[in-house]
Amino acid sequence: MAYYSIPYSTIGFIVTKKKVVGMPKKDEFDLPLQLAGLRMRNPTMLASGILGMSRFTLEQVASAGAGSIVTKSIGPKPEKGYSNPTIVEVDCGYLNAMGLPNPGVDAYAPEISELRKVIDVPIVGSVYGGSPEDFVYVASKMEKAGAAAIEANVSCPHAKVGSIGLDPDCVKEVTQAVKGAIRIPLLVKLNPNVTSIVEIAKAAEDGGCDAITAINTVKGMAIDVDAFLPILGNRYGGLSGPAMKPIALRCVYELYEKVRVPIIGVGGISGWRDAVEFLLAGASCIQIGTALIKGLSVFKEILEGLTSYMKKKSFKSLKDIIGRAHR
Ligand SMILES: Cc1cc2nc3c(=O)[nH]c(=O)nc-3n(C[C@H](O)[C@H](O)[C@H](O)COP(=O)(O)O)c2cc1C
Repeated sequence: MAYYSIPYSTIGFIVTKKKVVGMPKKDEFDLPLQLAGLRMRNPTMLASGILGMSRFTLEQVASAGAGSIVTKSIGPKPEKGYSNPTIVEVDCGYLNAMGLPNPGVDAYAPEISELRKVIDVPIVGSVYGGSPEDFVYVASKMEKAGAAAIEANVSCPHAKVGSIGLDPDCVKEVTQAVKGAIRIPLLVKLNPNVTSIVEIAKAAEDGGCDAITAINTVKGMAIDVDAFLPILGNRYGGLSGPAMKPIALRCVYELYEKVRVPIIGVGGISGWRDAVEFLLAGASCIQIGTALIKGLSVFKEILEGLTSYMKKKSFKSLKDIIGRAHR
């Protein structure tokens, strides 16, 4: 297939312009859960970064039914990101190498405070940095601004700071530092591009994290056969969407057997069946990213499908599904 390069700034615009077929009514889906101290109305979360960081877009995601919203990853200082192309559509999903563009936490924190005034679902602040001190700085500012939890992104496969998530000692150090500096729950988002994801998860658990988010994108690339060059400005990027679902599912399944903290599953979830698979593998809730390119109705479709699946199988609560594939 031909490759299409998409300007990142337009994704949120495209998605929010798509018609949401019947916004769910407040509390329409009765699937409440407590995740590591975070109260959610249902087990769906917006994955970090896909829809950018505009307050307007995130507000619409909450209205579309998401149980919680994760912000774009924010660092200690403004970051321009990589040069274009930064997103390429491939047969089975998307490859992106954004380079974590963001305005820096000092500029972004007021957005969280404002967003909090207009939505009633928990906001999870995604943070990254080059050192434990960076992570602590950003996480503390996010907590002060009203984030209900922090997701430490130690896992971006193409970012300069991505190597933190490849080393268990670094992961433990960052986790301990952030955990010691905040009072809200700490989620640690893992990089799948490692030999043993369990080893890294255990390091985060030893560092005191409250939950694990699995997984970030899978490292990949695309080459233009006419230009004889890699397509992405950064050459390498992260693969997201349906192609990575079996990888993400396997990671969640493996982690469920080895770690005690709850797991948040993410990677290629685009319908209710995918969501159910992740819950059966052991995820306590799920994040949705790339599938949102179809529109924000994805949240409602997943919640409707999950609810009727539970009825059909006579499951009373999410607890009846989570980890059931391990019996
Ligand atoms: C355009 C784009 C930007 C992303 N930005 C971030 C980010 O800032 N921080 C982060 O932790 N993950 C980021 N991700 C990874 C997603 O949060 C998610 O882990 C990954 O895309 C797999 O889920 P999906 O297949 O549902 O998209 C990004 C993914 C995409 C496609």
